[in-house]
Amino acid sequence: MLVPFQASDIPYAVHLEASIGKGFVKAWSYETYQAALQDPNYCLLKTESQSGFIIFYRTSQVVVDLKRIIVAKPGSGHGTLLIRDGILWARDSGYQKMTLDVLHQNVRAQKLYIKFGFNERHRGFEPAMQNILIYMDRSL
Ligand SMILES: CC(C)(COP(=O)(O)OP(=O)(O)OC[C@H]1O[C@@H](n2cnc3c(N)ncnc32)[C@H](O)[C@@H]1OP(=O)(O)O)[C@@H](O)C(=O)NCCC(=O)NCCS
Repeated sequence: MLVPFQASDIPYAVHLEASIGKGFVKAWSYETYQAALQDPNYCLLKTESQSGFIIFYRTSQVVVDLKRIIVAKPGSGHGTLLIRDGILWARDSGYQKMTLDVLHQNVRAQKLYIKFGFNERHRGFEPAMQNILIYMDRSL
């Protein structure tokens, strides 16, 4: 079950990004997390057991972007549970489509997304990350 992410969770999120997420996600600063928590277009959720967190951004009334997903123990099935519950949350919130982007070398995350029905739409070079991003989406 997903619960709202609180300001007190920020240090843990920053820590996970710097460790587990290194090379896979563009780490957010403490201040970026604070700003996202105050932005109504962002929805930051975590598992009750603190096994990971997932962040969504409302692109439009019907489209939501999966901004980041990260778990404390990769390869233990927690990502599967997190994205499953995130998709249920998005559906229950009235969204009809979920988008995301993933670094081309992040095969583990791509496998997770494909398992959950995401389809690749296009690829593009991201100058800020000096890397190729794969853009994916799925209907909800
Ligand atoms: C991406 C991430 C959220 C996936 O969560 P996870 O708990 O590791 O994934 P799961 O254990 O639920 O496995 C999901 C699928 O990933 C694939 N997978 C898992 N471990 C893998 C590995 N070591 N190598 C390749 N594929 C792997 C499998 O296809 C698996 O599905 P299956 O077990 O049904 O075959 C997690 O690895 C993570 O936090 N990574 C660092 C941050 C990150 O990359 N975030 C995504 C940015 S776009």
